[in-house]
Amino acid sequence: MPLERLAYVSHSTEPAESLMSVSDILEQSVRNNRGNNITGALAFTPSRFAQVLEGSHGSLDVLLLKLAMDPRHHDMIVVDRLPIERRLFNDWAMIAPVFTPHGRARLATLVAGETPSMSALTELIFEMVGEQDASTNTP
Ligand SMILES: Cc1cc2nc3c(=O)[nH]c(=O)nc-3n(C[C@H](O)[C@H](O)[C@H](O)COP(=O)(O)O)c2cc1C
Repeated sequence: MPLERLAYVSHSTEPAESLMSVSDILEQSVRNNRGNNITGALAFTPSRFAQVLEGSHGSLDVLLLKLAMDPRHHDMIVVDRLPIERRLFNDWAMIAPVFTPHGRARLATLVAGETPSMSALTELIFEMVGEQDASTNTP
């Protein structure tokens, strides 16, 4: 089954830094994405979400419809959507990496633009996942 990756940005309805709401979203995403063979990562600033999703065309279409109706955020903009050979976030049904202060600043700058670059967003989020692994994995 051909794979696609997409990234979108949106505005959170409640402050997204409220960890309760993000952990609820994360829990729901992991549960659903496992069943739908979707992988990806979620990043947030106090007022914005940025998410990278990977999966089949059909499964991403279904999820986009659900996301568009979710009152927890609004004004979703799909930044880009393209075919991929392999998943970048293969190990995660959904992960919300902890951002370093520098990473947080870069994310804020990226989402402040009209349409952030998909590759810049994906690379930054992937880098933050790596930082997290490096700090939590003992050799
Ligand atoms: C920022 C954000 C990211 C989300 N990411 C996902 C996701 O990756 N997968 C998912 O199934 N639902 C995600 N959701 C939740 C969906 O919008 C929707 O509520 C959910 O898929 C419905 O699940 P249900 O069909 O089990 O009720 C997200 C919601 C928000 C606000």
